[in-house]
Amino acid sequence: MDAYLADWAHLILRWLHLIAGAAWIGASFYFNWLNNHVRPPEDGRKGIEGEVWSVHGGAFYQAIKHGYTLPKLPGTLHWFYWEAYTTWLSGIGLLAVVYWLDAKAWMAGPYGPGPAVAVGIGGLVVGWIVYDLLCKSPLAPHPRAFGLTVYALLVAAAFGLYQVLPARAAYIHTGAIIGTIMAANVFFVIIPSQRTMVDKVARGEPPDLTAGKPGAVRSLHNNYFTLPVLFIMVSNHFPFTYGSDHGWLALAAIGAVGVVIRHVFNLKGKGVAYTPWIPVAVVGGLVIIAAMAPKRIEGPAVGWSEVAPIVSARCTPCHATAPTMAGFTAPPKGYVLETEAHAAVSAALIRTQVETQVMPLGNLTGMTPEERAKLVAWAAGMSDSAVSKGP
Ligand code: HEC
Repeated sequence: MDAYLADWAHLILRWLHLIAGAAWIGASFYFNWLNNHVRPPEDGRKGIEGEVWSVHGGAFYQAIKHGYTLPKLPGTLHWFYWEAYTTWLSGIGLLAVVYWLDAKAWMAGPYGPGPAVAVGIGGLVVGWIVYDLLCKSPLAPHPRAFGLTVYALLVAAAFGLYQVLPARAAYIHTGAIIGTIMAANVFFVIIPSQRTMVDKVARGEPPDLTAGKPGAVRSLHNNYFTLPVLFIMVSNHFPFTYGSDHGWLALAAIGAVGVVIRHVFNLKGKGVAYTPWIPVAVVGGLVIIAAMAPKRIEGPAVGWSEVAPIVSARCTPCHATAPTMAGFTAPPKGYVLETEAHAAVSAALIRTQVETQVMPLGNLTGMTPEERAKLVAWAAGMSDSAVSKGP
């Protein structure tokens, strides 16, 4: 695809992904909040599960929870699914445009781009199948054991992806596995189980406490998946996360903290103000920050004259006003590295990107370890001596 059009496709998909994702998570958070906050009616009314009063945007609202015991269907019943499907479809589109179609740059792990793409795509399918089987297994009725198993399997998936994909791709594909499970939960379980529920009410059959149950359970799972998956999405712009020595372990730890935060909020909604989980999350967070601090490559001070040829051979094919690398019509992120002045203002940024091996992208320009050590040593000298910010 023409590089300019590919950039547009990328931008529009990203925009759509963000909008749909916000709508999906917003709705999901709101209904979860409702569920946690419904209380018996203050006027003692019977026949409903509970209600919530709220004030927002200049009006009062009253939401009533009927659960499975609706006497009669209303004329208009709103469903929530396009948010989930659009988020997933735009996410897959993004993965395809950014990673799979440009696999040489973004997916070239130790076994090359082909196997990496196959593993990346296969992981999405296998992830869902394994999770869905677990949901139907004898483990399912035991929430703690079930949760720990799903968590352990996802950590194993992240570890596995790290062996085959470059770090950044491994992160985002772990996120895509979770996102796929969430969207498939909506498509294969939540919506069908709601349809059964609605059909029963429409036929005037007696209330059925089991009809909507599978959907409710999967909804709750999705709720716990949200924070880790959002972290993965934003961390892609922070190479010190995925590029750190044990990127998959950092992901496992942050994932656990995300789940704990969600759990604390869920308990808080139900009126449990304090749980021992809060200190666990705080300590966990501190451990992660300490563990992820990059191991610095140390070396003697290096001057610009020594690194200038390295930068022009390994970086400026892409990071130039007029890049020579195929597929680049403009410097990525507008980031140009043609002079010492360019490099000096962003020495700290260069250090992280090069130290974590995120740059040169896919090492398409074939940077050697010696060159890498030299450039890092120069950037370290610059960023330690001068106040250095991003470009
Ligand atoms: C094959 C093309 C290519 C090469 C070669 C390359 N980069 Fe990059 N670089 C990119 C792309 C693409 C991005 C944007 C990544 C993203 O979307 O986050 C980027 C981003 C960066 C950023 C982050 C800029 C920002 O504003 O966040 C830095 C710093 C960077 N590169 C440094 C380097 C250095 C130093 C080298 C040489 C050692 C190098 N790059 C070689 C393609 C390249």
